[in-house]
Amino acid sequence: MEFSTQTTLSPHQIKTAALGLGVYADGTLSTAGQALDRAAGGLVSATIKTDFDGAAGATLVLRHLPGIKAERVILVGLGKADQYSPEVHARAELAFAQACVQARVEEAVSELAALPCENSTLHQRAQRAATSYGRALYRYTATFGKPDAEAAPRLNRVTLLVARSHAAEAQKGLKEGRAIANGMDLTRTLGNLPGNICTPRYLADTARKLAKEFKSIKVEVLDQKEIQALGMGSFLSVAKGSDEPPRFIILRHQGKKTGKGSDKAPHVLVGKGITFDSGGISIKPAATMDEMKYDMCGAASVLGTFRALGELDLPLNVVGLIAACENLPSGRANKPGDVVTSMSGQTIEILNTDAEGRLVLCDALTYAERLKPASVVDIATLTGACVVALGHVNSGLFSTDQALADSLQAAGRVSLDTVWQLPIQDAYQEQLKSRFADIANIGGPAAGSVTAACFLSRFTKAYRWAHLDIAGTAWQSGKDKGATGRPVPLLTQYLLDQVR
Ligand code: BES
Ligand code: MN
Ligand code: ZN
Repeated sequence: MEFSTQTTLSPHQIKTAALGLGVYADGTLSTAGQALDRAAGGLVSATIKTDFDGAAGATLVLRHLPGIKAERVILVGLGKADQYSPEVHARAELAFAQACVQARVEEAVSELAALPCENSTLHQRAQRAATSYGRALYRYTATFGKPDAEAAPRLNRVTLLVARSHAAEAQKGLKEGRAIANGMDLTRTLGNLPGNICTPRYLADTARKLAKEFKSIKVEVLDQKEIQALGMGSFLSVAKGSDEPPRFIILRHQGKKTGKGSDKAPHVLVGKGITFDSGGISIKPAATMDEMKYDMCGAASVLGTFRALGELDLPLNVVGLIAACENLPSGRANKPGDVVTSMSGQTIEILNTDAEGRLVLCDALTYAERLKPASVVDIATLTGACVVALGHVNSGLFSTDQALADSLQAAGRVSLDTVWQLPIQDAYQEQLKSRFADIANIGGPAAGSVTAACFLSRFTKAYRWAHLDIAGTAWQSGKDKGATGRPVPLLTQYLLDQVR
């Protein structure tokens, strides 16, 4: 997918397969839209009066208008002008992209990003436009016997109409948005791949591929023996229930322009990489167990963010840590009541083998200490309770460092990949008391997401840390079942903000 910008005063002169024009709910067109309408003898405004209500995200295709060079003019609803927002803009871009995909056009021109919108810059709107096009173009094809080439979307070039003085700003946003979209693409495909293909080894191979593709990325993969040598007894206790061997994956991105600061403290991203979570001996019900192939979406979002980092060659030090294994029942699996020793030395009583995410993350978080990090953010499909609390709109945010929490919240607002902060307080730590070990791995049914975060906080005292629970946002169920690519936009924006 290629993006560019174009400046024009006569929209009726633009030769393209599809020209996107915004229409507000009262039927008003933009300045460019009005000029085009005049060139078309008022046909556009006449059609809007009878056939288009301008509702946010609605589209209408007008073909072969007289006096207009574009093959199609696609009207895109923007809703009420006084309610026009960054969210509506992103939705309009997505709707236009979907209409272009449906019309099977190869290239398109859009004015949408240039339309003024409160609380956003053109840079941000161009970024969101590019991620919207990426979203509309994503197709999962990896495990079909005969991928249907005809069904593949064709749109491969989008041009934004902007004022000449704004072209550079728009291009910057497009570049970032394209990198985010490519990162999301990788994250979605990894999430959608079944557990028998996307194994810990597959995640490691994916990391190695990134290192081949991008000079800024180096990868190190630790196998079972090496994980053992580090003393990661908690992580290994989960892995040992399966015949599929675990992997601990370390990614390092060091941007070319990092220069003198190349020894600067890294920002660390830690991903939960359970490539299938059956629950183990505390086994899950059968009905939707297939969805637990998505339990590596934290890891996938780390890999997707590294893809974006590599593409942008951001002048930053970033380290990614991925603890990858399966959680299965077997004669060697964890049993309720087992006590294991984590890399930190703290012992853990495993009261429920299905609370395995925190068992693999705690050792990765202890490993992060040796990196002397500037910040650590872990990303995990950690608790069903987070889906109950926040649904599919916001990821859960937990932090012991309010400044870090604030910057993640800000990055979420800019990238439209939002988080909602939930508490970590000592009062909840009580629920994790064990009669037989330093800490229990579950805290009872009350405040399940909070006690999970409290568990992790026992291992993160040495640095600034935040935890993202993406159980409700990393994938969707129902007819459009699949991975969403979240929170790659949030994480990439957070890192972009560290550069400025
Ligand atoms: N991977 C699950 C969390 C999950 C559940 C994500 C449903 C998305 C949808 C995690 O490993 C898990 O099983 N958590 C348990 C914890 C409980 C045993 C304390 C849960 O949420 O039920
Ligand atoms: Mn589980
Ligand atoms: Zn899990």
